[in-house]
Amino acid sequence: MKENKQKLELTWHGKKDWENPEPRLLIEKEIYESDSKGLEDNLLIYGDNLLGLKSLERDYTGKIKCVYIDPPYNTKSCFKHYNDNMEHSLWLNMMKERLVILHRLLREDGSIWISIDAYESHYLKVLCDEIFGRKNFIDEVVWERAYSPINLKKTLSRCHDYILAYAKKIDCLEFNKLPRTNEANSRYKNPDDDPRGIWKSGDLSVGPIIKEKIYPIITPSGKRVLPPKGYCWRLTKERFEEYKKDNRIWFGKDGNNVPSIKRFLTEVSDGITAMTFWKREYVGDSQEAKREVKKFNNKDIFVTPKPERLIQRILYLATNPGDLVLDSFAGSGTTGAVAHKMGRRWIMIEMEKTGHTHIIPRLNMVINGEDEGGITKHVNWKGGGSYKYLEMAPSLLEKNRLGRWVINKKYNSAMLSEAVCMHSGYKYSPRKDIYWMHGYSTEHDFIYVVAQTLTKAELNRLSNEVGEGRTLMIYCSAFKVDGIEFDNLTIRKIPKTILNKCTWGKDDYSLKVALSKEADRANKRKQVKPSSYSSGYSPRAPIAVKGVM
Ligand SMILES: C[S@@+](CC[C@H](N)C(=O)[O-])C[C@H]1O[C@@H](n2cnc3c(N)ncnc32)[C@H](O)[C@@H]1O
Repeated sequence: MKENKQKLELTWHGKKDWENPEPRLLIEKEIYESDSKGLEDNLLIYGDNLLGLKSLERDYTGKIKCVYIDPPYNTKSCFKHYNDNMEHSLWLNMMKERLVILHRLLREDGSIWISIDAYESHYLKVLCDEIFGRKNFIDEVVWERAYSPINLKKTLSRCHDYILAYAKKIDCLEFNKLPRTNEANSRYKNPDDDPRGIWKSGDLSVGPIIKEKIYPIITPSGKRVLPPKGYCWRLTKERFEEYKKDNRIWFGKDGNNVPSIKRFLTEVSDGITAMTFWKREYVGDSQEAKREVKKFNNKDIFVTPKPERLIQRILYLATNPGDLVLDSFAGSGTTGAVAHKMGRRWIMIEMEKTGHTHIIPRLNMVINGEDEGGITKHVNWKGGGSYKYLEMAPSLLEKNRLGRWVINKKYNSAMLSEAVCMHSGYKYSPRKDIYWMHGYSTEHDFIYVVAQTLTKAELNRLSNEVGEGRTLMIYCSAFKVDGIEFDNLTIRKIPKTILNKCTWGKDDYSLKVALSKEADRANKRKQVKPSSYSSGYSPRAPIAVKGVM
């Protein structure tokens, strides 16, 4: 019988419609620095995150320790600062394209955490299983984001979000333990005045059943006890006797209870393994987050921020000081602010004007030590550090009046050279002393990029200068060789050689564009086939275009 190799996967309309965005140069527009603490690798990138992530691939593949993203949940709302109303399959495509790159950027021992709610969480889980591998699923955290019910809701008032966590490679991953809290310690008591100090009782029964570990225990009061149905004791009979002799078994004050194990505070490990239900009292809630962002922009309060304590918990578990954290849906900049105060390096991407109205003011207060809110006091943050504000360069190619692709006029020779290096896999590293060395791929192989026609004489001279034992890749707009071949030169034309590498000239891959395209399509469908949906079957749900920003 033929083996059925079809794998389990989520499919949707347009799943195979891959975008192939152009990696752009990131142009440094501003450096914000506070004091002497040196220039760290912190970056705030303004623009669409598909282009932004693509541009980060060159330098950051395999370098990010922790990705936290809080994408639009697709809750069919149109928030003041961004739109959250995407047709389901467009949303899945939007997420897939970005998650594939985020996966590449992660370190082997890194992890990704994704905030989401029940509208899309189950679809997102299946999608992430496909991209990250089911075995790399760490868990699903439930975050209690609200405390009081919304009584206007007719059915249930949702008060939690999910955070899906995946490892790049589960075998390489190790999380930090949470610090022990006074509350956790207060559960330890010493009712029998044990000289080893305070202790807490732990379950002696455990599943699944191991036959040898099922045996009767006689309590000091003379009662015979067996483990509950479906369970066995945690200890073998011999081990149990040793524990009992060492006064490590507790039968209750009257010696009549089901036995439990005494766990001494002095013997438990330093930290606590985090559980998956995160209560608002420990990690904050949406109200707390709103109060925090008010401090940076009181006139235009960011609508859906996350509390600093929530991000602090994630970064505490998944990173150490100096690690690189990435958030490609930055919103009001919570991730960067928290990472900065915790001594982690960070990269954020945001495409809406909140980048300027919320993130920059917030991060500037953080580096200047003027931000007293959020986790500041808890981590004893006093200010310091810096970050760069970057924008994406325009597309390297543009269409001329005849509809032909040509090099964008906005590119000067240095930008052209750096962009071509990026597209051809060379490391951009121009040398001042040798005009043709713009970058290299190995110790002996170099690249030279020039937007002009090279003559035979010029090529001859280059070949002589490169000499034996070295090779040079030349990108130019045209060349004349009259049949001569140079052993040490490879000559390619731009833009011809790079034309098929990616999609040129497209600046926005965001939900806004997807929405307006979908709206166009919907309108066309309406005009061309007015009766096509009369059967009630719609291959794509009609979308609301109202309120597109
Ligand atoms: C839910 S908010 C993030 C809030 C953030 N966690 C905070 O605490 O402030 C989602 C953000 O993603 C941004 N966003 C959505 N699509 C994007 C895209 N394609 N490129 C860059 N940013 C995008 C939106 O503008 C919005 O600010």
